[in-house]
Amino acid sequence: MKVDVLLGLQWGDEGKGKIVDVLTRKYDIIARFQGGPNAGHTLEFDGIKHVLHTIPSGIFHPGTKNLIGNGVVIDPVIFCKEIADLKVHNVNVKEALLISRKAHLILPTHRILDAASEAAKGKNKIGSTLKGIGPTYMDKTGRNGLRVGDIELEDFKERYESLKAKHEQLLSHYEFDYKEQLAELEPAWFEAVEIMRELTLIDSEHYLHTALADGKKVLAEGAQGSLLDIDFGSYPFVTSSTTTCAGSCTGLGIAPNRIERVFGIFKAYCTRVGSGPFPTELFDEDGAYLQEKGHEFGATTGRPRRCGWLDIPALKYAVSINGVTNLIMMKADVMSGFDTIKVCTKYRYKSEEIEHLPYSIDESLIEPVYEEIPGWKDDLTGLDNLEDAPQALKDYLAYVEEKIGVPISILSVGPNRTQTIELEKLSL
Ligand code: GDP
Ligand code: IMO
Ligand code: MG
Repeated sequence: MKVDVLLGLQWGDEGKGKIVDVLTRKYDIIARFQGGPNAGHTLEFDGIKHVLHTIPSGIFHPGTKNLIGNGVVIDPVIFCKEIADLKVHNVNVKEALLISRKAHLILPTHRILDAASEAAKGKNKIGSTLKGIGPTYMDKTGRNGLRVGDIELEDFKERYESLKAKHEQLLSHYEFDYKEQLAELEPAWFEAVEIMRELTLIDSEHYLHTALADGKKVLAEGAQGSLLDIDFGSYPFVTSSTTTCAGSCTGLGIAPNRIERVFGIFKAYCTRVGSGPFPTELFDEDGAYLQEKGHEFGATTGRPRRCGWLDIPALKYAVSINGVTNLIMMKADVMSGFDTIKVCTKYRYKSEEIEHLPYSIDESLIEPVYEEIPGWKDDLTGLDNLEDAPQALKDYLAYVEEKIGVPISILSVGPNRTQTIELEKLSL
């Protein structure tokens, strides 16, 4: 059996959580492969809205296994709070949720280091979610990190103290007052570690290999988006993990030739939360319209998301890097209301016109070149098939497919599970 991957093609918040939830019934295992509680994946069904940070988005489907892979970083406090929230929905966490022993732990001092680093950067700050993601991945690659499996060891506390001492040394280089915050964070952290000890901790790569050999179907769930990838994103305004398809191999221990479909999710427009270049960003009433109609506020931090028109060169770039086989277009309902919509089809770069992403997409260097096409005004939130869609939306879908060269398989017209239209039979 093969593994399918679902990931975001823009700057995150494309709607990954919603679609993973929709697709879960076709899979046996949903596996998160990178990122941590910087993610906020929103699910809406049966009148409830649920935001998941570390837990895979298949968790509300009884019988499905939800795996947190080795590539993920876990803050025990946030994680346990998420678990507590699930109990209200009668989720059998011990059975449904599996955690890789190789996943790394976010320590309270990682969060403090994140805040200290951002404060020191001043106006050049990344706009991090301040969840400790960067410092935790730094310790992972620096070979200092603590892993979930370590909590089962007798000398866990010593390992913790030794890493904390390193962090305190680093913090002494920043003018950052943290002692009080640390004293507040630490007890809750250890309490949460105790709770984690009772959960199902596994050697996840072995588990996945066995499951695949037994014919089980796996969907790997990405976090963030391709333009936030540590290598291919708008560096340094990125996150610290491999958000692209390759991250599903390293973050789960599956080989590249195991991957079958790659679902690439994008919004019908673009958003970005945090700092960094955003070529098609709108500063006018159109941007304000998208932000308000799309409720574009971060699911994790509540910060307003910057909004702009769809960027075809950026989308093409993400599709190539990930080997996307199926596109999923989200939030078409939010785009209702424009006489015409703009699509960036190339960039003006150093007095040339280019269709690829150059080394830097800084606004001082590139200017988007737009094509303007007819918009639509109909309310799409009740739409349940493509035939009934306004012609301008059908044309927009065809236009994007033609530009990208990959079919759009699913169209989303609202936040609810039910507001999802399968455009081609997926036979998963
Ligand atoms: P994720 O991080 O990729 O899972 O996305 P988020 O949950 O952070 O952000 C997506 C937001 O858009 C959430 O509030 C969803 O409930 C909402 N959403 C998802 N799909 C649609 C859609 O088709 N239309 C509208 N209006 N909202 C959507
Ligand atoms: P999901 O999975 C949108 C952004 C932050 C910041 C940069 C670095 O919900 O799509 P970090 O906390 O990783 O150090 O922040 O990345 N960012 C996200 N933006 N969606 C996310 O996740 C994000 N996770 C991180 O805003 O610009
Ligand atoms: Mg999100």
